[in-house]
Amino acid sequence: MPLRNKPLNPAGKKHKFGKAWMHEHVSDHWVQEAKAKGYRSRAAFKLAELADRDKLLRPGMTVVDLGAAPGSWCQLLRERLGPSATIVALDLLPMDPIAGVQFIQSDLREDSGLEALSKRLAGRRVDLVLSDLAPNLSGVDAADQARSVHLGELAIEFAVRWLRLGGDAVIKAFQGAGFAEFQHQMQIHFDKVYVRKPKASRDRSREVYLVGKGFRDLSSVSDNLKKLASPSARGR
Ligand SMILES: C[S@@+](CC[C@H](N)C(=O)[O-])C[C@H]1O[C@@H](n2cnc3c(N)ncnc32)[C@H](O)[C@@H]1O
Repeated sequence: MPLRNKPLNPAGKKHKFGKAWMHEHVSDHWVQEAKAKGYRSRAAFKLAELADRDKLLRPGMTVVDLGAAPGSWCQLLRERLGPSATIVALDLLPMDPIAGVQFIQSDLREDSGLEALSKRLAGRRVDLVLSDLAPNLSGVDAADQARSVHLGELAIEFAVRWLRLGGDAVIKAFQGAGFAEFQHQMQIHFDKVYVRKPKASRDRSREVYLVGKGFRDLSSVSDNLKKLASPSARGR
């Protein structure tokens, strides 16, 4: 068949790629890449792009991966961080083991999830907190958005509790209600905050990643403010 007579897409349109077809084509590309490289999901390429762009990964780091299953981010971490790294991962769902990754099956919304993480970290500060947490979608936009924002907030809370000074965080967020406040929260706690949309993230998804660089510990500032506001300080 001469090339110009070949249909260009399954809908048979010669000159125009259907939008949905184009999306699926692109996503297939990442799925195929993931298969070829042995990653458990296309999500590996999202972290790879963020990590390269914002220089997030260094050998020997301590990293916590929240919402880790099926495990492609952990696979990438294992490849890039070397044997001396500490990688702790948590998910509601089970995850097939990955050598060198300490996996906790638990719900981050429950105290037991946070307690299990804190037990594994045993007081060790974290260099990088990753969160690819996403709720099961119900199809009701407002409810899904609220659940996503809540998971993002839990990830920030965890990061604030565990990051070392100067540490970094990558937290998935969904654009929509509550996004601006969420971004503001990140801006309070990090020197720089970037909103990133990696190529492997579907265009039609409102998913983006907030990359916080340079964690600043504000607890001493707020402790001092509390002291200044206390009755004894005011009476002086
Ligand atoms: C997009 S997937 C993560 C993909 C992963 N980054 C990878 O590379 O394979 C989101 C994950 O968040 C998990 N999740 C959602 N809510 C959670 C919660 N409350 N506690 C723990 N994990 C949760 C889901 O079970 C799901 O596995």
